[in-house]
Amino acid sequence: MGIFKPRKRQVQVDFDHLPRHVAIIMDGNGRWAKRRGLPRTAGHAAGAETFRSIATYCQTIGLEYLTVYAFSTENWKRPAEEVSSIIGLLKKYLLESIEKMERDKIRLHFFGDLEALPPELRQLTVRTDDISTRYDGMQVNVCFNYGGRDEIVRAAKTFAADCQAGKHRPEELTEALLSGYLYSAGIPDPDLVIRPSGEVRISNFLLWQSAYAEFYYTDVLWPDFDQEELHKALAAYQSRSRRFGGV
Ligand code: IPE
Ligand code: IPE
Ligand code: MG
Repeated sequence: MGIFKPRKRQVQVDFDHLPRHVAIIMDGNGRWAKRRGLPRTAGHAAGAETFRSIATYCQTIGLEYLTVYAFSTENWKRPAEEVSSIIGLLKKYLLESIEKMERDKIRLHFFGDLEALPPELRQLTVRTDDISTRYDGMQVNVCFNYGGRDEIVRAAKTFAADCQAGKHRPEELTEALLSGYLYSAGIPDPDLVIRPSGEVRISNFLLWQSAYAEFYYTDVLWPDFDQEELHKALAAYQSRSRRFGGV
């Protein structure tokens, strides 16, 4: 028998029925760099470029919401030099995004405790919030200093304070009301959560919101994640049967 080389199968995505909201845990930057004998910070720079190209592509195909996990409340455990290089990248891409938002009418929001950011960066996030109110294009949410548990605790505290102030009564609390206290207030829950890098865990990402999300895992490291990988994730999503507890 001769050598049989299977033709690379094109993944079929139905672009008329995309998930409304895709969330991505941008993981694997460090391992990507290590494999190349580069410092971890080079992996973060490459991952930030991947974010830029995937976000642009998501806008092209007409996705409504894209939420990415960029830095967790636990990532402060990393060496100071790595943390500061990630914050430096955030600044670079924020400045660039502001131009892009105006051009492409994109909305950009942050989920997370931004108090920990340098004042100059916090100012920039206030600016992106402000610009976002003018547009109705794709909404990108960047989770920075974000933790799912931290988000729920904050929501609970704010609700408790509103009760004390007489705005609410404890017995009024419903799932919908609590959702309104989260960073994601007013945004539909993610339909699809993608985690590259081979890890099969949630790592404190969108704990409340992903109650019924479909999960997609791949061994591809985030800096290598491209359109074709996104197509695979979308096609996998489209092959699933979502039941939400029904039959
Ligand atoms: C994801 O890549 C980026 C952040 C968590 C900030 P990692 O830096 O976690 O990469 P690995 O998991 O070490 O390969
Ligand atoms: C999750 O990745 C956080 C981000 C991608 C920003 P981690 O690399 O921090 O997760 P663990 O430590 O492997 O669970
Ligand atoms: Mg990691």
